[in-house]
Amino acid sequence: MSVIEKNLLYPSMESIPRQFQITCRNEARCLINGKIIPAPGKEVYSPIQYRESAVIKNYRLGYTPWLDPSQALDAIKAAELAYDYGWGVWPQMTIKERIHCVEEFALRMQDLQEGFICQVMWEIAKPYQSSKDEFQRTLKYMEETIIHLRELDKNAAKIHQIEGFAAQIRRSPLGPVLLMGPFNYPLNEAFAMFIPALIMGNTVVMKLPSWGCLCLDPFLDLLADSFPPGVVNIINGEGSKIIPPIVERGSINVLGFIGTTAVANKIIADHPYNNRLRTILGLEAKNPAFVFPDCDLELTVQECLQGALEFNGQRCTSLKHIWVHEEICERFLDALSQAVAKIKYGMPWDQDVLLTPLAEEGKCERLLHWIYQAEEHGAKTVNPGGGEYAGNLFYPSILFPVTREMDIYHVEQFGPVIPVSSFRSLDDIAVYLAECQFGQQASIFTNSAQMAAPLIDILAHQVSRVNLNAQCRRGPDELPFTGRKDSAEGTLSIVDALRAFSIRSLVVANEHGKELFNKILAADNCKFLHR
Ligand code: G3H
Repeated sequence: MSVIEKNLLYPSMESIPRQFQITCRNEARCLINGKIIPAPGKEVYSPIQYRESAVIKNYRLGYTPWLDPSQALDAIKAAELAYDYGWGVWPQMTIKERIHCVEEFALRMQDLQEGFICQVMWEIAKPYQSSKDEFQRTLKYMEETIIHLRELDKNAAKIHQIEGFAAQIRRSPLGPVLLMGPFNYPLNEAFAMFIPALIMGNTVVMKLPSWGCLCLDPFLDLLADSFPPGVVNIINGEGSKIIPPIVERGSINVLGFIGTTAVANKIIADHPYNNRLRTILGLEAKNPAFVFPDCDLELTVQECLQGALEFNGQRCTSLKHIWVHEEICERFLDALSQAVAKIKYGMPWDQDVLLTPLAEEGKCERLLHWIYQAEEHGAKTVNPGGGEYAGNLFYPSILFPVTREMDIYHVEQFGPVIPVSSFRSLDDIAVYLAECQFGQQASIFTNSAQMAAPLIDILAHQVSRVNLNAQCRRGPDELPFTGRKDSAEGTLSIVDALRAFSIRSLVVANEHGKELFNKILAADNCKFLHR
């Protein structure tokens, strides 16, 4: 019997703490043109499994709307109508009015917290505390977005006097926006695009992710209540069928997408007017850590462990390749294996659990395939029980030595496999970095400025954030979050996202226009040009 199976309890519903027991959502609903519409549904199952007699089954959680292309088109038509070339009620509202709507929404959203946490635990097996953190981080993101937008609006009131010209510069919305978030942060990643897109005056069509879709269902009523019809439209369905007809209309002005390069490229290629489409993309990443002989080994192992395995390594910012200097490699591998052996795994409601069932269907088999392929080329799983799995629970494998013939050297594993390679000099690292397709973040573990400084100088041209003696991460959300190479397009942070989903427009007057400019300001009847 495998290490993991010995310890794994398939829970029966009665064995689960009462506050986390869940009932099936039998009605699939979407939000189109201000109305909650019952829709044909597709069954959604939890990655959490139970044993019935001798059979292992997945809990059925309910139905997500599964629209056909013509129903999905209603969503973009509603967003086009609500935007109405910028003459719609929402884009014509003042910033203050839009802020007011979002503030009311955020206030009422707080009531959804407990339901969201429970649902997300069941849908993607995210541990309780992380699910709660996701909700609260999103609320904080919304509050701070409002604070920054007020500041932006205040500064935009300024009249610039430049070389005899008077000008007022304000940010305007871009038009209908298509948003597609990922399963691993179904609320936070979606809302980190949705809220700035909305508050800047755009109208939105949001497609839900394949997993982590039901947890957003309770938001539909609140969204329908809080915003004018057509401003927010929430749909789901087979992406390859419903997205092309939406995009082919040519009315989408911004694509906010977190997912794979292949899907992003396909969506972009379907747009008939490429120059009109602004893209904010969060794509694959393969964040490396570099461990030097003089590092604080205990701290380094803890950070690498959390970095690689928090939420099963299903974070775009996870550490996905660890490079260790050959002088310390053996000690590092021993210490990491021992740390992995102490990890708590189980169900998302279990106290202090780090590893839970994997959300994606067939993921354990895919991870195992990469491990076998690496073993064929000479790597070994160095920790006892690594790579064993039961149901959807996968016991982490530390693979060493990982070399470039192995698929795991190149792919984003998005799961609990930790590839480790050794290096001798900065030249080894420089070659690896130059070849690496991705460039989101990296971590350096050393106490020596001598070691760190030249590596920072290499990394700063290869990735978008270098973390010192710490794992990679996105937060705090005030910091720019982006990537180089194939990892991202555009930058998200609280301030950057407001810019990403808007464009500067200006009203300018020379000596012939100044009198009119001032008359308009004095009359105070223009929404754009005013103090
Ligand atoms: O999956 C990508 C997330 O935005 C990562 O956020 O670094 O805070 O876990 P995090």
